[in-house]
Amino acid sequence: MKNEKIQIFDTTLRDGEQVPGCKLNATQKIIIAKELEIAGVDVIEAGFPISSPADFKAVQMIAKEIKNATVCALSRSIEKDIDVAAEAIKNAKFPRIHTGIGTSDQHIKYKFNTTPDKIIERAIAAVKYAKKYVEDVEFYAEDAGRTGKEYLAKVIQAAVKAGATVVNIPDTTGFCLPEEYGEKIAFLRDNVIGIENVTISTHCHNDLGLATANSIAGIENGATQIECTINGVGERAGNTSLEEVVMLIKKKYANQFHTDFETRKFIALSQLVANSMSMQIPANKSIVGSNAFSHSSGIHQDGVLKQRENYEIIDPEEVGVSKSSIVLTARSGRAALAFRCKEIGHQLENGELDIVYQQFLSVADRKKEVNDNDLKTLLSSIFSKQRLGQ
Ligand code: KIV
Ligand code: ZN
Repeated sequence: MKNEKIQIFDTTLRDGEQVPGCKLNATQKIIIAKELEIAGVDVIEAGFPISSPADFKAVQMIAKEIKNATVCALSRSIEKDIDVAAEAIKNAKFPRIHTGIGTSDQHIKYKFNTTPDKIIERAIAAVKYAKKYVEDVEFYAEDAGRTGKEYLAKVIQAAVKAGATVVNIPDTTGFCLPEEYGEKIAFLRDNVIGIENVTISTHCHNDLGLATANSIAGIENGATQIECTINGVGERAGNTSLEEVVMLIKKKYANQFHTDFETRKFIALSQLVANSMSMQIPANKSIVGSNAFSHSSGIHQDGVLKQRENYEIIDPEEVGVSKSSIVLTARSGRAALAFRCKEIGHQLENGELDIVYQQFLSVADRKKEVNDNDLKTLLSSIFSKQRLGQ
């Protein structure tokens, strides 16, 4: 079976940055872009240059700096947008213009107030116009998730014929089930002439919590590029999370697919993006949340201390976390308590564990989490009293 490369197209700096309150300045964008490049992303969507002079400048600077990844700029299917996008990325080593238009009935009627045929004309014109500037033109069919497959195939066929090198099939509103999204990609793969010569891309939003599953359904059915963001940031409920799809491919599809992304960069990148955007990561976020490798219930702690794999499917070092943590709470057991006491230099002898455990529970019932300082205080109070014979 061939091991196909899946291109990672990061849109943290464009779709991710559209989140209210998450706007980045040019310096922050360049720092993130460089880290993405080092980590091995294939495409960096640097921004939407027509949207503001500052975004134009940021895209321009990223285009100059980045040498190993494609730098992509977004535009609507409007000539002025495309002119500005082309200008912003003109110094990129590998420039790409990402242009497109809404294709669902909803968008055609209520956003563009036009007809399906006119949408196809605009799609063709936009791709052809972008091709005057760059060879690499990605076409997006916005709201493809709610676009009938026959009409979607017509639009994509037109974009391919007009010269698109990549066709992006966004589930803009996060409406598809994985089977539906997968079928859509398969239908295009099987019905669009010449599609084997272009890259099919997924771009899934997370409104129903299915962005990652849908992106994977996409690659199972012929897509070879995934659009995603660090921490899954993006419009509304966000985009496909980069760390989730990359890790899923590594863990579950290693015989079929691979990416060039260095997973040990996950945590550093995740924290960089969270801090730059002032958007903290939920503790239970898969892979990069602060609880992703911490164990707090007695049963799990005992199991992990016996062998990490009892409760972990990912080695924390693989994602840039030095080790799993054993968190002490009122649900923790003796094994965890003994382990943490030993970590702070106090090996409990036979019989001591029971005494310490009872007193630990009363502290733990009062506090949410018992930290090293609490533990040291507890141990010194117990053992100094014992020495004094109290
Ligand atoms: O969600 C979407 O459809 C988009 C396009 C602009 C690619 O972000
Ligand atoms: Zn989007």
